[in-house]
Amino acid sequence: MGERLYLGIDLGTFQSTITASNGESNTIETVVGKPKDPIARNFLKRDTLFGADALKNKLACNIYRPLSSGVAQDDENNLAAAKSFVTHLVDSISPEDFDEVFGVICSPSTISFVDKSNLVSILRGQVNAIMVVSEPFAVAFGLDEVGGSIVVDIGAGTTDIARIYGAFPTEDDQATLDEAGDWVDGILQNLIEKKFTGAQLTKDMVRKWKEEGSYVSGDPREQIVELSVEGKKQVVDIGDLVQIACGELVPYLVSAIKKNVAGADPEYQPILRNNIILSGGGSLIDGIADRVADELADIGDVRVWCVDDPIVRVADGAYKLAMQMPDDQYTAIN
Ligand SMILES: Nc1ncnc2c1ncn2[C@@H]1O[C@H](COP(=O)(O)OP(=O)(O)OP(=O)(O)O)[C@@H](O)[C@H]1O
Ligand SMILES: [Mg+2]
Repeated sequence: MGERLYLGIDLGTFQSTITASNGESNTIETVVGKPKDPIARNFLKRDTLFGADALKNKLACNIYRPLSSGVAQDDENNLAAAKSFVTHLVDSISPEDFDEVFGVICSPSTISFVDKSNLVSILRGQVNAIMVVSEPFAVAFGLDEVGGSIVVDIGAGTTDIARIYGAFPTEDDQATLDEAGDWVDGILQNLIEKKFTGAQLTKDMVRKWKEEGSYVSGDPREQIVELSVEGKKQVVDIGDLVQIACGELVPYLVSAIKKNVAGADPEYQPILRNNIILSGGGSLIDGIADRVADELADIGDVRVWCVDDPIVRVADGAYKLAMQMPDDQYTAIN
């Protein structure tokens, strides 16, 4: 029998990470660019651009974020973009020396639960057999916390939450919220536009500012940014607005966690309350774990903590699962 390559793949709406048993790993923003016209094609000298390369050339390209929430998954262009993105992601870890590839995939809940056949068609040709798991479960498995925990993965498109107690979580154990990083960015953008009338903003500008200054507790901090108001440079402080926008997420997290605890076997509830794990890029918001813990205090003693390296946590857990699962857990896709 030939050599088999194992992959853990986190397909994120904002960025995707792959970790492979040949020691390679890679994170790429989930963006695909197609040159807009023959001039652009000639200038760029390639038919498809990915990640940071696509963003750098965004004015010369049609830009797709093929796994974004809200993107119609039956749209042909998006499906083609998703497929070429995944091909690029898998190629980036040099799979060609192996005879077969087995992958554990975490995908945005919008495609993994609503239409798995799209996921299969996106992966076909790159991977021989797949197993699909939720982001929270992959995080728990990677951290050796499957014994009893609640994992809250705060991504860009969705916040996925699951209680984990020794086995694969069922649908009942999990919930998905639309309130996540992109949603916070939308709130922040509105707040800035309201305070600085005529401010010209892009989503990417707002997201970067949020990432640079995100926090939820204490006195308002200063965060000076440069923006254009009707073409004219203006230097403003958005620190107070960043705190407000990030803070808006907290009540949604708290109420989803409470519901998740309440639905569990009562004998397990104390264990779950004492091991609430925040992951995903949103867990990088300064002070988020303490804020969530404070607001959960009315359900008893709680412990809320953030994982290290949240951006790679899901793919690491998926990879660890890939290495340990027996073959009968995989589904052959070609
Ligand atoms: N320092 C930070 N403070 C606040 N938010 C951050 C920070 N760093 C990254 N983020 C946000 O985290 C999100 C990306 O996280 P992540 O990579 O976990 O998402 P994803 O896996 O692509 O999305 P999803 O899981 O919803 O498919 C973005 O919204 C990003 O702005
Ligand atoms: Mg994610």
